[in-house]
Amino acid sequence: MFEAFYELSRSPFSRDVPPSELYESEILEETLGRLEYAAERQWFAVVTGDCGTGKTTTIRRFTEELDPAKFKVLYLSDSKLTPRQFYKGLLEQLGCESKFYRGDAKRQLHREIELMRGIHGLQPVVVVDEAHLLDREMLEEVRFLLNFKRMRRAPWRSSS
Ligand SMILES: Nc1ncnc2c1ncn2[C@@H]1O[C@H](COP(=O)(O)OP(=O)(O)OP(=O)(O)O)[C@@H](O)[C@H]1O
Ligand SMILES: [Mg+2]
Repeated sequence: MFEAFYELSRSPFSRDVPPSELYESEILEETLGRLEYAAERQWFAVVTGDCGTGKTTTIRRFTEELDPAKFKVLYLSDSKLTPRQFYKGLLEQLGCESKFYRGDAKRQLHREIELMRGIHGLQPVVVVDEAHLLDREMLEEVRFLLNFKRMRRAPWRSSS
């Protein structure tokens, strides 16, 4: 009803605003630029902001704008995420059935990402929304994702 009164074509602040129709604030542009910079370099980036200030919406826009020929976006949003669910969730989005044990699933994910990079030339972009609710163990797991190249090449790791 208020939409008609204010001559709005749709309800404002709905969750499904198309990314192309967002209000283009300076901060949105700046955040998108920084996220792209981080994705290009496969870095770790954290988006912070008060409740309802547009973090998820910014990520939605960011993932929409990424070149699908260069990047594969893996998105998770679960406040109760455990390390096992984390690897399972990412593997599912890569079209794989996760191994049961966490260590196996972790190695499986690293292998899949290597294949995706090597064969399809795609870089992964892992987005964990609501990450402030994750416990420390889970956050460490996210951090370890960035080490996987080093882990793979580590001389003390067996090749089996
Ligand atoms: N740039 C924008 N232009 C128009 N609407 C926006 C913009 N950014 C956010 N919104 C609107 O504001 C609402 C809240 O945004 P969003 O859910 O992204 O915030 P949030 O920071 O992720 O919130 P929370 O802290 O609860 O997770 C959304 O429904 C969205 O429609
Ligand atoms: Mg949000």
